Amino acid sequence: MKPKINIAIDGYSSCGKSTLARSVARELNYIYIDSGAMYRAVALFALHQGYIKPDGIIDEDGLVKALDLVLINFKYNTDAGQNETYLNGVNVEREIRSIQVSNYVSIISNIKEVRAKLVRLQKRIAEGKGVVMDGRDIGTVVIPDAELKFFMTAEIRIRAQRRYFELKSMGVETTVDEVLANISSRDEFDSTRANDPLKQATDAIVIDNSNLTIEEQFQFVMGQILKKIGLLEGVD
Ligand code: DC
Repeated sequence: MKPKINIAIDGYSSCGKSTLARSVARELNYIYIDSGAMYRAVALFALHQGYIKPDGIIDEDGLVKALDLVLINFKYNTDAGQNETYLNGVNVEREIRSIQVSNYVSIISNIKEVRAKLVRLQKRIAEGKGVVMDGRDIGTVVIPDAELKFFMTAEIRIRAQRRYFELKSMGVETTVDEVLANISSRDEFDSTRANDPLKQATDAIVIDNSNLTIEEQFQFVMGQILKKIGLLEGVD
């Protein structure tokens, strides 16, 4: 049997990390974990439960005390052909992509206790190997021993346009400028925050996909993965 490896995919907001991670996981028959969806689910919980006040002030203490009440899991939707995020038993896959959640998720993800809870969960999932996980700190904190790490980037205007079309297709009302402002402030915040900031792992393979098609990128990444698995097979 082929050895199963873990694959970490990190990078800036709206670089197509999920699209790549999902297709790689499907090709290899691995588990795909969207770690950003977990942070988004906590942000949604905070909005629903009033830990984010209408004036935008966040009741961090209240949220931290309530964290034990946050249950996040993924279920495979056969019609959509992908995992969907559940918060306390409710499918929130669409709601967690709203601009409102996007506007708060970076701040929520900088709360130490939120990260501790989600990182613990993510590490446990990765223990079984055969996982493709995307996020900001996967190669540096969650699976530092992942056999393969990719770090994705692309020009910000290209990313904003791609995300705008994606949101539009999901029926979310927004504009390219609004999306660009959100991406830009999240990049800045995620890269400079105190806790587990977005950082390229020293052993990550960098992919700038500004001028790559989804297919070209997929082929490149699969080439790297098959090479790695082949090397490990040789070692076994
Ligand atoms: O991947 P995404 O854009 O859905 O992630 C939403 C936010 O969650 C992102 O702005 C930062 C945070 N995040 C994080 O801090 N660590 C991760 N591993 C994944 C996401």
